[in-house]
Amino acid sequence: MTDDIHLRPYSRRSWAEPYKIKVVEPLKTTTRTEREQAIAFAGYNTFLLRSEDVYIDLLTDSGTSAMSDYQWAGMMLGDEAYAGSKNFYNLEKAVQNYYGYRYVVPTHQGRGAENILSQILIKPGDYIPGNMYFTTTRLHQELAGGTFVDVIIDEAHDPASLHPFKGNVDLRQLADLIEQVGAERIPYISIAATVNMAGGQPISMANLQAVRQIAQIHGIRIILDATRAVENAYFIQQREEKYFKQATASILREFCSYTDGCTMSGKKDALVNIGGWLSLNDPALYEEASNLVVIYEGLHTYGGMAGRDMEAMARGIEESVQDDHIRARVRQVEYLGTKLKDRDIPIVVPIGGHAVYLDAKTFFPHISQDHFPAQRLAAELYLEAGIRAMERGIVSAGRNKETGDHYYPNLELVRLTIPRRVYTQAHMDLTAEAVEDVYYNRDRLRGLKMIYEPKYLRFFQARFELL
Ligand code: F0G
Repeated sequence: MTDDIHLRPYSRRSWAEPYKIKVVEPLKTTTRTEREQAIAFAGYNTFLLRSEDVYIDLLTDSGTSAMSDYQWAGMMLGDEAYAGSKNFYNLEKAVQNYYGYRYVVPTHQGRGAENILSQILIKPGDYIPGNMYFTTTRLHQELAGGTFVDVIIDEAHDPASLHPFKGNVDLRQLADLIEQVGAERIPYISIAATVNMAGGQPISMANLQAVRQIAQIHGIRIILDATRAVENAYFIQQREEKYFKQATASILREFCSYTDGCTMSGKKDALVNIGGWLSLNDPALYEEASNLVVIYEGLHTYGGMAGRDMEAMARGIEESVQDDHIRARVRQVEYLGTKLKDRDIPIVVPIGGHAVYLDAKTFFPHISQDHFPAQRLAAELYLEAGIRAMERGIVSAGRNKETGDHYYPNLELVRLTIPRRVYTQAHMDLTAEAVEDVYYNRDRLRGLKMIYEPKYLRFFQARFELL
């Protein structure tokens, strides 16, 4: 790991991919009539489409990365022993080296870690402040009896604000909450790196340090959602002057050092199709977590993963922090976002780390939020070109557990999420053209009516009809 990378020579050049393609997966193209049938059958919910009917799949960057030859070679070295697999120790070492935490509890994916963490730390009546909610994270906090309190800065709720760190915590709001409810009712502060629901927006190192100071004064822990922390570290390198010349890897280590542990979905930054972990520095908490994991995930040396999956993740972590990799990853997203911006399509700015977010409220000013504008837009993109995106608006926000009303989030977004190392520049061009075509025909589109609503995380399985 070098601390002095030379950004200048690269910055004038393209972000061209630091790899070449060795294996390809053919894509099916469909007719408009076939797509009309498929999306109606899926209840206008892109989660319910069959992947074979999708041309460009921008549903999520979760578990959809292309692995490298080095990772695939590692898959052949899976040690599938029930206990003490050598791949677990490789994973543990990679997390310790690159993230810097002491203890690692493997889990099948991120929400497995969230479940265990919430059960260990949260008591009924507790409050968990955080820089915007994430769906599964908040649900596990609520299931454990806690209440999530959003303390992100106001700019995060404004799709047009150009604040470079829209993931920052509003320190005043955090301090006020501590004063109101008392530090003893706040088991930890939940900090997300590149805040997904805000549009993939980073939190600055300076802000995290300030949160750390407040937390330390009150003896409150900070738990990081490290799912996209490498992308966050890259933004710090690009936007926070002190870090201009530091390698992403060393920025990541410093970032994590201000926190007491993390939950991690390895399916994003860590370049694997499945896997996650929970990290902790406190030995007593680790002991509890490594005991609880046995109930929900598997023994503490596999946590629901095969040995080969742990090896792929250990190697993926190592690749994920390379500057060449992370630069190309984030700049591909920027490439798509810039194309859309140049066509005057309303998107969340600054462009995020893992996705471009269409601002559905501005896109469809004539569709009220009760008629699910973002859900409608995602369905229309599929109809237009077989592109699958995801709603991140009122459907994802769910209902207030006390009042039973919908949450009405300010941000009503469609996420075009870019899998890592999967699609080419031509796929990005085609996506931008398709969005533009929908944009020019937007006046003729109406909203949706929800006809089936599941109790938990409704966005995954809800069904709709055209109005
Ligand atoms: N935290 C964040 C910030 C996430 O984006 C996700 C998953 C999780 C936690 C949960 O991890 O899926 O491995 O259980 N996000 C996916 C997405 C589903 O599409 O954004 P998981």
